[in-house]
Amino acid sequence: MEKHFNFSNAHKDLIARDAEHVLGWRYAPGIVFEQGRGSTIIDVDGNEYLDFTSGMMCLPLGHAHEELTETLREQAGRFLHENSWYSNPQLIDFAEAITATLPDGLDVVNFTVTGSEANEVAMRMALGASGKHDIISVIRGLHGGSLAVEGLTSIGGARRRNLGPLLAPASAPAIHAPLCWRCPINLDYPSCGVACLAASEDLIDQTTSSEAAAVIA
Ligand SMILES: Cc1ncc(COP(=O)(O)O)c(C=O)c1O
Repeated sequence: MEKHFNFSNAHKDLIARDAEHVLGWRYAPGIVFEQGRGSTIIDVDGNEYLDFTSGMMCLPLGHAHEELTETLREQAGRFLHENSWYSNPQLIDFAEAITATLPDGLDVVNFTVTGSEANEVAMRMALGASGKHDIISVIRGLHGGSLAVEGLTSIGGARRRNLGPLLAPASAPAIHAPLCWRCPINLDYPSCGVACLAASEDLIDQTTSSEAAAVIA
């Protein structure tokens, strides 16, 4: 497959250095990107690609969005970090902008740095607030790489190997994804009658205490 890409020697060298010194999951062939604009992303050889993944699903505004870039530049000129025991006007404005979109009663934002951390905090809140210990996830659901959320990630095989039981304070049963494109029970919508939902309810009945602290999807 790599031969279709015609990478320069400099690009191949970067791919080799990445493999040697950076720990991370990589698709094959590895591609080293240099910059992006909108939905286009460009590798170190200048090849352009359409980025259908919005980065890691979190760049729906596209790469190098002008207003966002300018806002980041301005804020970097003030400070990038002060101290999480104090506050700043931008933080308060952002929290209010988010809570304005949420249903009544969801009035407080806990800012975290990664998806794994956000899910860890959410799990901790669900356990603490409910006093219950089942956190139900969806089969093939991925929630991050820290140990507790890895315990909820219901992808088998190499990802779980050598790790042992991960989610000590909670159990992590999983239900089917309502995924019509690749139906988990090999039926077709709509004649299936959404049978995956009944199957999932049965899984909850049979594999949990019927007292879920949370469902994560
Ligand atoms: C659906 C989903 N949840 C959580 C995470 C974890 O986020 P992070 O890598 O920022 O910890 C990822 C990362 O790929 C993800 O795809």
